[in-house]
Amino acid sequence: DTLILGVKDLLGKRVLITGGGTREPIDPVRFIGNRSTGRQSVALATAALERGADVTFIGANLEVQVPVGARFIAVSSSAELQGALEREAESHDIVIMAAAIADYRPAIVSDSKLKKNALGERSTLELVQNPDLLAALAANARPDQFIIGFAAETSDDKESLLALGREKLARKGCDALVVNGVGWDTGFGTEVNDVIILARGGDILVEVSGEKRAIAERILDITR
Ligand code: CTP
Ligand code: CA
Repeated sequence: DTLILGVKDLLGKRVLITGGGTREPIDPVRFIGNRSTGRQSVALATAALERGADVTFIGANLEVQVPVGARFIAVSSSAELQGALEREAESHDIVIMAAAIADYRPAIVSDSKLKKNALGERSTLELVQNPDLLAALAANARPDQFIIGFAAETSDDKESLLALGREKLARKGCDALVVNGVGWDTGFGTEVNDVIILARGGDILVEVSGEKRAIAERILDITR
């Protein structure tokens, strides 16, 4: 009975989801991080499992529990996430890159805790750019793989949000991009979200606001 069991439209599909936020080490006790909690990616994993998919979840510093039934791989830094992604991506039909991956990491990671007085009253931290994992994934994907990216943008109006999203989609070369407005109190850590899903080429596929679970269902709908 589909009413009770739900529609298993992802049966046999292998879905890889990345979620959470990376931490880039400075020394053994410090890191550069971000405010991603992993809520939207966990909602995606839960929805995909219920729809019959085999789910692998690469999670970075999650503040929420990964659903039972998903194969879980814990990572912390962007380099670890990259390693896991490179091992896993090929064997999956759908890859959803919801993780907030640091754009930069400290150029030097100290093996000992940095001492306050070693840096004086004012100091700078040298950073190097991280590789763009989504762009590399999309460039190497098989034609039968479906790659979805996320875009977190601070923007007040829809037109500039769309422009930023379309530019990012073109740069990444993925099949779809979930564009998400973020701010001091929107996007991260909340139960709800507000997204526009763009298709390759830039057309709007879906606009949806609401619970992260409802948004997860609409994202999975476009992979069929
Ligand atoms: N992403 C990635 N590798 C990175 C940074 C981001 O794969 N080093 C992925 C994210 O998982 C997300 C998408 O790229 O799916 C967009 O991330 P975002 O930070 O919005 O885009 P950037 O290209 O980093 O651009 P900017 O931060 O300047 O907006
Ligand atoms: Ca970024």
